[in-house]
Amino acid sequence: PPVSRMLSLWDIEDVARKVLSYKALAYYASAADEEITDRENNRSFSRFFFHPRVMRPVSQCDPSTTILGFKSSIPVFVSGAALARLGHPLGEANITRGAGRKGIIQMVSSNASLSYAQIAEARVSPEQPLFFQLYKHRDDRVAEERVREVISLGYNAIFLTVDAIVAGNRERDIRAPFELEEQEREADQASDSADKSAKQEKEEGGDVNLLGTAGALIANDDLDMTWERTIPWLRSVTKLPIVIKGIQCVEDAVLAAEAGVDGILISNHGGRQLEYALPCIEVLYRLRQQRPDVFDKLEVYIDGGARRGTDVLKALCLGAKAVGMGRPFLYAQSAYGEEGVVRAIDILEREIVRGMRLLGVSNVQQLVPEMVEHVNWQPV
Ligand code: FNR
Repeated sequence: PPVSRMLSLWDIEDVARKVLSYKALAYYASAADEEITDRENNRSFSRFFFHPRVMRPVSQCDPSTTILGFKSSIPVFVSGAALARLGHPLGEANITRGAGRKGIIQMVSSNASLSYAQIAEARVSPEQPLFFQLYKHRDDRVAEERVREVISLGYNAIFLTVDAIVAGNRERDIRAPFELEEQEREADQASDSADKSAKQEKEEGGDVNLLGTAGALIANDDLDMTWERTIPWLRSVTKLPIVIKGIQCVEDAVLAAEAGVDGILISNHGGRQLEYALPCIEVLYRLRQQRPDVFDKLEVYIDGGARRGTDVLKALCLGAKAVGMGRPFLYAQSAYGEEGVVRAIDILEREIVRGMRLLGVSNVQQLVPEMVEHVNWQPV
């Protein structure tokens, strides 16, 4: 279907699921174990209901905000997700251009499938901000080189991922190569059974790769990062704003504030790391309740499972400055390239502006905790 028929991010995801290769879909969609945290990331938004206000002027409605001081046309950014070229030959550049045209900010994955330079070159103008997601190599000098490279390319902030020191157990992704082999073998068997035994031998002797795609990508990462050592190290390498990506409880949000970083991204990596990590909106809600002071010390973002304008607005009511999305942009560029990314952002903008008007607010500062209520039941 033409991109103009896409009415929601779910519509785009449906198309992507049809066009993606078996292996690419397994990598993009998979999450840890039974994929419960991934599912609840999305479902838990539906435990928050609004207290809409009426009789307030909303003809002028401005959904824009700033993230680390950089202007963003809506309070949404692209969370860094690896290997965009699995879904489309132009890969990350589709997202760079779409985000640039629509005025939102892309966080580029350490494991992007284009070089950091190629992505910087894809910007619609030299002023387009780009954030960099850092997987820290266990050797400080190697890690420093990577940071220096993106500084010299003009990237504007470092998001240090701390929730993926080892890869989560994503069985769909691990299984995909074997399942593909089986399908191939079945196809072969139909036409040609001559080399069957040779194939079988190869299979039995073959090493089972239990790492999965992510495990292979982060095999050299630092398992021994600490607040005391790693943050001062990163500060010594760069003056760029530093955001900690992968905060999953109130205690660590407080420690991040004490460490003096510029922001935290409350995230469980889209449910791909520790199964049964709390959904991100629940962590945000607890932070708002238990330590509202943290929101004055740094910017707070969330990602994981947000798919609707109302999801974004709930997070903003609870004090988030912006909401990240990972899979929606991978799917959008897989299905429709750059135009898919533009469409996804258009959809979100329409949903956010409509939601703001129906809530009775005309700018994002008016979104306050009193406008949401946490219920202990799940709508059917
Ligand atoms: C990710 N994510 C991720 N995070 C990160 O810090 N570095 C990375 O390289 C990747 N790679 C990656 C690949 C894929 C396929 C996915 C789906 C996710 C996590 C990502 O930044 C973000 O936290 C989640 O995607 C947010 O959840 P949603 O929006 O996908 O539900």
